[in-house]
Amino acid sequence: MTDRHADDEETFRIRQMTIDDFPEVFHIGEEVFTADYSQSLYRTWDEFEITTLFNSDNELCLVAEAGEEILGFALGTTVNKHNSPWKYGYLVWLGVHSGIQQGGVGSKLFKEIKRRMKEQGVRIIMIDTSADNQPAIRFFQKQGFDDIQEHVYMSLNLTRKTKKKGKKP
Ligand SMILES: CC(C)(COP(=O)(O)OP(=O)(O)OC[C@H]1O[C@@H](n2cnc3c(N)ncnc32)[C@H](O)[C@@H]1OP(=O)(O)O)[C@@H](O)C(=O)NCCC(=O)NCCS
Repeated sequence: MTDRHADDEETFRIRQMTIDDFPEVFHIGEEVFTADYSQSLYRTWDEFEITTLFNSDNELCLVAEAGEEILGFALGTTVNKHNSPWKYGYLVWLGVHSGIQQGGVGSKLFKEIKRRMKEQGVRIIMIDTSADNQPAIRFFQKQGFDDIQEHVYMSLNLTRKTKKKGKKP
C-alpha cells in the first residue's frame, strides 16, 4: 500500500461490489476484523458474510477503489421489524485497509451506503461494534450516531462438567 492520502477526490471512488472483489474484500476483512475485534462468534468474519450479504442486498455492498486497488468496503442490509412500520438499515461490516485508515475512505463509504439506504426507505441506521473499539465509536459518532446501548453476551460451555448442587465433593 502506498502512503497516498486517501482523502482526495481524485484518488479513490466508491462503487458497488462485484464478485471479482470478493478475495480482496475478504483479505481486508481478515486484516481488520481480527479475533481481538470480536470475541463473540456472533461477529465472526468469514467468506459467507460477503456472499450472503451480496446475494440478499448487492446494492448495499460497496467498495472504495483507487485504480485497481480496493481500499475498503461497506456491507449492509435492511431489516423490517415486526410491528414497526419503519424500515431499518443495518451496516453489518465496514472495513478500511489498515495502511490507509483515517484518510476519509470510511466516511465516503458510509456517506454512499447511507444515501442508498435512504433511497430504499430506511429511517434508522443501526451498527454494532465492541464496547472497546474506540476508533470505530469515534468514527460513528462523527457520522452522527448517538444513543449508545450496551449489550451483554454470555456463553455456556457444554463440554464442561457441571457440579450438582447439594452434592458433597
Ligand atoms: C472504523 C473505520 C471503518 C473508519 O474508517 P476510516 O477511513 O479510518 O475513517 P475516516 O478517515 O473517514 O474518519 C472519519 C472520522 O472518524 C474518526 N476516526 C476514524 N478513525 C479514528 C481513530 N483511529 N481514532 C479516533 N477517531 C477516529 C475521526 O473523527 C475521523 O475524523 P477526522 O479525520 O476529521 O478526525 C476504520 O478505522 C476500520 O476499518 N476499523 C477497523 C474495523 C472496524 O472497527 N469497523 C467498524 C465496525 S464494523
